[in-house]
Parts: sequence; structure tokens; C-alpha cells
Amino acid sequence: MHLGIFDNSDQASSAAAHVVINLFAQKPNATLGVATGSTPSGLYRELRAAHAAGDFSLKKSQVFALDEYVGIAEDHPERYRNVLRRELVGKENVGLTEEGLHTPDASAEDPNVAALHYDREIGAVGGIDLQILGIGTDGHIGFNEPGGSLVSRTHAEPLASQTITDNARFFDGDVSKVPTTCITQGLGTIMEARQIVLLAFGANKANALAQLIEGPISAKWPATILQMHPDVVVIADKAAASTLEYTDLYVERWQLAFGD
Ligand code: GLP
Repeated sequence: MHLGIFDNSDQASSAAAHVVINLFAQKPNATLGVATGSTPSGLYRELRAAHAAGDFSLKKSQVFALDEYVGIAEDHPERYRNVLRRELVGKENVGLTEEGLHTPDASAEDPNVAALHYDREIGAVGGIDLQILGIGTDGHIGFNEPGGSLVSRTHAEPLASQTITDNARFFDGDVSKVPTTCITQGLGTIMEARQIVLLAFGANKANALAQLIEGPISAKWPATILQMHPDVVVIADKAAASTLEYTDLYVERWQLAFGD
């Protein structure tokens, strides 16, 4: 696992964008896994700028969301499909087509059947080349909350109360408006992505990041399973990296792999 520590989230987002843009320069039809939440919005802004400059496009790509809220109205602005449409779809964004954007069907009668179908859809395109991840304050990735299987497939799952509290800011600050269930790619599904870029910004992610990088692999901190993945790049700002014990070592390792 490589950890890059940047002065601020803008610099970190720019570094993450380079990883994505480099991959698509080599493989324009790469399959991309995308996260929602506030953390990747700077990365998506960078990708839109690269698209406007003619340096990047998702026109030939299939893009898979990590997760979706169950029971959210189709036109709700916080439905993840709608969030990703705003960020990525259309010529003005990054050239992604509506057909190229895949999200779990959270309005399906049986979310578990929709989850199975979603896993198969990912498999049918040959898997995900690059998965972008954020991390929850409780260490979740996608919506894989503490105490779940470390090898799970895409499944329906209740949200932890910490996540409902954290995400209330997207729902007028009202926890009662936050959906309580989701469909999420499982940890086993995420681990099959060929490359993973995880972003962590802000002091409220410091504990989860310390567990991810230095903690034992544990269902208590689901992101720690990524320690078993051969190609993970973690991109953090200084605030998120503030409680790590071996920072000097990570900086040296990063410079050895990627230069300054
Ligand atoms: C959300 C999403 C995750 C995201 C995480 C952190 O609920 N399901 O994909 O990484 O929680 O969100 P944020 O980036 O807003 O802190």
C-alpha cells in the first residue's frame, strides 16, 4: 500500500486525478468504479477540467457506482445516480453516457436480487480496472459497515447510526430524512478491482485512516481489508494523516515509487 500525504485536499485531488488520467491514456475504455460522498468531488472537478482541455474522457468507459440508497425517490438530488450524473455525465462533464453509468437498482422489489444482478453486471464487463474510494469515519468503504463479512459480495445492508449521523448533512441536517438501508458493492467485490485509489481528507478521518494504514485487519474497521490488496494508493491530506506513527517511512516509500 502506498500513502501520499498532501498539504491540502486540492493538491491531493490533483494527484488522484493524475492516476485516473494516466490509466485512461493507456486504456481509453477502462472500467472505472466511482465513490460518492463529499471527498471525491475535487477529483471529479479535476477530471472535468481535463475533459474540457481534451485530455480525458469517459465516453468509452463503463462506470460503476459503489453503492446506492434503498427507497430514495428517483428524483432526489442525493440519490447517488443523480449525484454521479451531475458530476460525470454529459459532454460538459467528462463525456460519460447515461448508458455507461451503472448504479445498483435500489428501487427493485428485492434489493438482494438487485445486488446479485449488479455483481454480475460488473463481472460481465470483465471487472473494474480502477476503483475510487472514500472512507467513512467508522472505517466503512462503499457502505460496508463494521462487523460485516470481509469477503462479501454486493448486498443490501443497514446503515450504521454513525453513518446516518455523518450523512445527515446531505439531508437538511435531519437524521430522520437519511435512508436507513443501501445496496453496496461488497468488500470481496471491491477487492477484485485491479487498482484502488482511496481518498481521505480532514481530521475527522484521522482515526479511520490510522486503522487502515497501521491497524490490524479487522471487521471493526472494514477498510483494513485493503491491506491485502496488491495495488492500493491512499491519498490523504495532512489533517487526515495527522495521527499516523510512521509518516517518515510513508513519505520515503512514496518518493521511491512516484518521485516528489
Ligand atoms: C458515504 C459513501 C462512501 C463514502 C463515505 C465518506 O456514505 N457511501 O462511499 O466514501 O460515506 O463520505 P464523505 O466523503 O462525504 O466523507
